[in-house]
Amino acid sequence: MENIIEFPAKEAGANKTIASEVELAQAVGNENISTYSYQGVEKDNDKIIPFPGKKRPQITYIETCAGLGATSLALKEVGEMLDLDFSCVCYSEIDKTAIRAYKELHGPTLVNLGDVTKVDWSKYQCDLLSFTFPCQNISIANRKAKGFEEGEDSSSSIIWSLRDVLSQMKQKPKMIFMENVAAILNKKHKHTLNRLIAFLQGEGYHVDYKKLDAADYGVPQHRERVYILCTLGFDPCFTYPAPIPLETKLCDVLEKNPSPQFNLTPKAKAGFISRGMRDVKSYPIRVHNPSKCDKAFTISTRSGSRNYDNFIFEKDVTDDKFIKLSKKGLAKAGVDLNAIEDMNIRKLTPNECMVLMGLKKEEREKLKDFTPNEIYKLTGNSIVIPVLISIFNEYFKALKDNGKLDDMDMAS
Ligand SMILES: C[S@@+](CC[C@H](N)C(=O)[O-])C[C@H]1O[C@@H](n2cnc3c(N)ncnc32)[C@H](O)[C@@H]1O
Repeated sequence: MENIIEFPAKEAGANKTIASEVELAQAVGNENISTYSYQGVEKDNDKIIPFPGKKRPQITYIETCAGLGATSLALKEVGEMLDLDFSCVCYSEIDKTAIRAYKELHGPTLVNLGDVTKVDWSKYQCDLLSFTFPCQNISIANRKAKGFEEGEDSSSSIIWSLRDVLSQMKQKPKMIFMENVAAILNKKHKHTLNRLIAFLQGEGYHVDYKKLDAADYGVPQHRERVYILCTLGFDPCFTYPAPIPLETKLCDVLEKNPSPQFNLTPKAKAGFISRGMRDVKSYPIRVHNPSKCDKAFTISTRSGSRNYDNFIFEKDVTDDKFIKLSKKGLAKAGVDLNAIEDMNIRKLTPNECMVLMGLKKEEREKLKDFTPNEIYKLTGNSIVIPVLISIFNEYFKALKDNGKLDDMDMAS
């Protein structure tokens, strides 16, 4: 069942890959990936030991709205690439499943501060604050989205508790990282984003932001997100990573014999088909051809239960990458509806969703006891790790190369 391949960090634009990834990449014919050689450290089994006497710059961070902890997973990789020591002070999360996942992935001893809006920040200090606030009230999928204005009764408005962080911490974090859906740049929300940026600039931060698509960073998932990096006191002069060609396709990471439990029930399949056949303005249901598809649509928190989710035919129906289950879509693909009614259509498996978010095999293993619905929610809420690795790699490389990490006097 496990025919899943990994995304080497190199595909994400970073100059590193590990042995197991090399083997996996070679197993699928990608011979161009070389093993990573790490400067300045010795490797003792799985443990990286700095050469004695060599001081790695230490950067402390707090991960709020932590989810499964994509920020931590990416920082761990970037630390190894750039010889930096990222150290998690604590995290903040309120969802029971996410807390369980965080503990599995990052160890049970880290302190969870709970509700980010209720923390007494005078007790905490960090160099980097990660604040990947909820998107439900910004997302275009939510027609009733309230936005994220300060004081609004909206889950996304919790970002304004940054005011408490900055007024209560003895020293402001030197860097703040935020991420949210692309709709944050839409007319409906742009004024709030501008207000947030103005607030941060007033607090002394230089603010950079950019919309990136995960499919441009080696991961076969179309997932556009806005990544915001704030630097206290100066312009870090970094550029967001440049897009790279997509070498690993969705068809490369689909399981060959997924459990039938992920097939749509006949009732659900009939419901989706009839919905697609109605000439309404609803989002079309699109089904991937398993050996033709190149990238997944954005993974959602209830993967496989909504029109815009990812669905897969049991075998190819045409040469197209996917077919829209609508009269027009079927006519365009020259496909008879009966052929589709007789065929299994499945959703993505939880493992496929984790792969498409960039979780490595050993990380996926740690979440093996979670139910499919728990994994769908965790992955749908999370951040594509190779994209984060690429961004943090560029950002910290720029700070390091420009001597700014020393100037910033980390962990002081
Ligand atoms: C968009 S997700 C971020 C996911 C995360 N970046 C990851 O790597 O999985 C937002 C997260 O914020 C959490 N959250 C919502 N309100 C919160 C609050 N008041 N305090 C702390 N966490 C909160 C949610 O449970 C959810 O896991």
